[in-house]
Parts: sequence; C-alpha cells; structure tokens
Amino acid sequence: MPEAMTVHDEDGFDQPARDAVYRAMFTRRDVRSHFLPAALDDAVLARLLLAAHHAPSVGFMQPWNFIVIRDAERREKVRDLFLAARDLELPAIEAERQALYRQLKLEGIRESALNICVTCNRERSKHSPLGRWHNPEMDLYSTVCAVQNFWLAARAEGVGVGWVSIIEPQALKSLLSIPEHVTPIAYLCVGRVTELAPRPDLETHGWGQRLPLSELIMSETFSGPGETLLKSAIAELKTGGAPPG
Ligand SMILES: Cc1cc2nc3c(=O)[nH]c(=O)nc-3n(C[C@H](O)[C@H](O)[C@H](O)COP(=O)(O)O)c2cc1C
Repeated sequence: MPEAMTVHDEDGFDQPARDAVYRAMFTRRDVRSHFLPAALDDAVLARLLLAAHHAPSVGFMQPWNFIVIRDAERREKVRDLFLAARDLELPAIEAERQALYRQLKLEGIRESALNICVTCNRERSKHSPLGRWHNPEMDLYSTVCAVQNFWLAARAEGVGVGWVSIIEPQALKSLLSIPEHVTPIAYLCVGRVTELAPRPDLETHGWGQRLPLSELIMSETFSGPGETLLKSAIAELKTGGAPPG
C-alpha cells in the first residue's frame, strides 16, 4: 500500500469493540420507571462524569457544570416543579392525546439514586468566542454533547438515565441557585435499574414511533431526492437486537 494510503490507527477498534459502541447506542434508553433505590457508587458516577467532560465543545469551551442532587427534600421540590409544569403543558397537547399524556410516567426524580443538573455557562468563552461569533447557541449544543456522552457511558455501565425537560427553567434556576448567565440544559435522573426496556417507553405506549431513516436523508439540497444506494445499504442494517429504525 503506498505510504499515503496507510491507515495510522494503532488504537483501532476491533470488531467486538465496534459492536460494543453501537450496542450502547442502540440499547440506550430514557428511564423513568424501574429505578432501584440502591445508591450509585461514586467510582461509577466519576467515570460517567469524566465521559461527559470529554465531549466535544465549541472552541474547546467546555461550558458545562454538573450539579449532583442527592437531598430528598430538594428533589421533592424539583418534582413539584415538574408536576406544575406538566399541568401547564397539558393544554398544548392535542385533545385526543391528553388522557394518554396524563398516564405516561415522565420522570423518576424521587425513585432514582440521584439527580444531576447539567448546566451551560454562557460566559465561559466571553473574551474569545471562537465558533460562537455567528452562532452563539453553539455552547448549548456542546453541553448537549456532554449529556449524550454521559448517557452512553451510563448505558455501558448498566446505569439508567432519564432526562426531565418538563420543568420551568427559571424556577429550577432559583431552586438550585443557578446564576443568571448559566442555563440549565438537562435535568437527569440517574441510578441503578431493574431493567432497560427494549424500546422507547413512548413507542410502547403508542405515543410515537421511530421514523424511517431513509426518509430523513436528502441529497445535495434539502429537497434533493436520491441516494438510492445509500438507502439500500441502510435497509440492510441491523441494530443488534434493538428494534430497527
Ligand atoms: C432533550 C430531551 C428532553 C427529554 N425530556 C423528557 C421528559 O421530560 N420526560 C421524559 O419522560 N422523557 C424525556 N426525554 C426522553 C425522550 O422521551 C426519549 O429520549 C424518547 O422517547 C426516545 O426514547 P429513548 O431515549 O429510550 O430511546 C427527553 C429526551 C431528550 C433528548
């Protein structure tokens, strides 16, 4: 092989390692039920947070902080915020789905071992906004990358994570003493679980289904059809036991 074509990947993943990465992605779940009351080992939590901290970030800004919330009383107050926010959200849901919405379990704030609020410090790169001059919201997206790293690492460790977004952000900021220039991005319920469901809860309850990936791919422009070969390749794929999408 000519030098220019040599693949320099001494750390290359072998097939079992590749399979494990995809398995974490295909079997990661948002968990609201099935949390165990058992405490989560700090050594495990440390690994999850380190994974989160290695997420990509605009201008290497690393805008995140992680508030670990263990106190039962504080969590009860967060749950009250959730209940109030859910009541406010309900009228925005189409009438025929409101009964189902009410039945859905949409948080595990009290049952999980602990909660983590992942925040974004919007001023951390204020003097050198590399990558944020035109797109200031990139710090928010970077923080979401950290959440996803956390979530996938948790899956690999057999730890459940549930993201609760039905909370009024200003009320949460005030409850957790989050400064004005810091935005709460994710409120996560984290802990050991009895099981991880094979498919999304919202799919099981008939709320939604995974969209066919082929219908989400365009070629060259947003309205460009095509990529027939790519779409055939997608049709051949398996998701390692998880329901195909
Ligand atoms: C930004 C974001 C916010 C979410 N907020 C909630 C929430 O408030 N309550 C909830 O039960 N699930 C929430 N989820 C989880 C989604 O419902 C879940 O990811 C989706 O149904 C697919 O299921 P899966 O994560 O198990 O694959 C949220 C997920 C994301 C990415």
